[in-house]
Amino acid sequence: MLSLLKRPRRNRKTAAIRSLVRETTLTAEDLVAPFFIQEGEGKRDAIATLPGVYRLSLDELLKEVTQLHLAGIQAVAIFPVIDSSLKDPEGSLAFDANGLVLRAVRLLKKELPDLCLITDIALDPYTSHGHDGVLDAYFNVANDPTVDRLVEMALLHAEAGVDLVAPSDMMDGRVFAIRKGLDKSGFSDVGILSYAAKYASSLYGPFRDALGSSLQYGDKKRYQMDPANVREALLEARLDEEEGADLLMVKPALFYLDVIARLHAQTHLPIAAYHVSGEYAMVMAAEQLGMLRARDVFYEALLSVKRAGASVIFSYATPLLVLGSDCLRRDPLLTKR
Ligand code: PBG
Repeated sequence: MLSLLKRPRRNRKTAAIRSLVRETTLTAEDLVAPFFIQEGEGKRDAIATLPGVYRLSLDELLKEVTQLHLAGIQAVAIFPVIDSSLKDPEGSLAFDANGLVLRAVRLLKKELPDLCLITDIALDPYTSHGHDGVLDAYFNVANDPTVDRLVEMALLHAEAGVDLVAPSDMMDGRVFAIRKGLDKSGFSDVGILSYAAKYASSLYGPFRDALGSSLQYGDKKRYQMDPANVREALLEARLDEEEGADLLMVKPALFYLDVIARLHAQTHLPIAAYHVSGEYAMVMAAEQLGMLRARDVFYEALLSVKRAGASVIFSYATPLLVLGSDCLRRDPLLTKR
C-alpha cells in the first residue's frame, strides 16, 4: 500500500534536486586522452576513420595537451605512428634509445610535470606484421620472448619519465616480469596499468588505421580474449593483480559493462576502461549524418562506463567533452557542422 504513496518524480522536479540525488558524476579528472604522435614539425594530420582525432607532431602534441590540462585533464596516453619502411618483424624501433615515444615523454614531463603520462607497452606499432609481439616458427606470437622485450620496453619508458606503463599485449606473466624489471632498476614508483581483460574486438579498426598497424595476416584471437567470456576476464584480472598491477583495464568499454561491473565486485584496485576507436567512430559517423549529437551521446556513454564501476576512462571523445563542440570545427572531415 505504501508504495502507492511513493512518487519518485519528486526527486526529479528541479535541476537542483536532480543534482543532489545524482549517483554518478563524470568529470575531466576521470578521463584519459589518447594521442597519436608522429615525426616532424607542425603536423596535424586528420585520420579518415577517426573524425576529430589527429596524428600530431610533438610540437602540436604539446599545444594540444597543454590546452586539455588547463581544462582539467590529468592524464594522457601516447601511441606512436611509425613509418612503415621502419617496421620489421621484431619491432626493433621500439628499442631505439631516442624513439618517438621517449622524446614525447621527456618533452611532456619537462613542460607539464604534474600531468600523468601513460604509454602502451606492446610491439604492434613497430612490427611489420602488426602483431603485438614476436612470432615463433608457426607465426604464433611467442609468449616468453615477447615478455622479455616488453620488460625492456617498459624500462626505456620508465627511464624517460612515464608515470604508468600500460601493457596492452595480453601475454601471460608480463605484469610480474615488468614489475620485477622495474623494481630491479630502481623504478619501483612507476605503476602498471594492465590491460587485464582485453577482448579480440571488431572495434579496433580505426586505431589500426591511425597507426598503420593493420594485421598482415591472422587475427589476435590467440592472445586477446573471446568476447563470449566473462569469467575468464575475472581470472585474467586476478592474475594481473597478483602479479603486481596497480590498475586493471577492461577494453572495449560499452559492450563490456557487465565485465566492468563484475570486476568492480571482485577487486579493490581501481578499474580503467578503454572506450575504443570503433566506439568513438560509430557515434561520429552518426553525427556526420546528422543522426545524433555526438557530445551528448559521449557524455551518456562515458557516464554509464563510470556507473558500471570504472574510475578511469580512456576516450577519444575527451577533447569534445571538456573543450566543447568548437574543437570539432577545426576538422576538415566535419565541415558539415
Ligand atoms: C595495441 C593496442 C590496440 C589498442 C590499444 N592498444 C589495438 C589492438 O590491440 O589491435 C586499441 C585502441 C582503440 O581501438 O582505440 N596493443
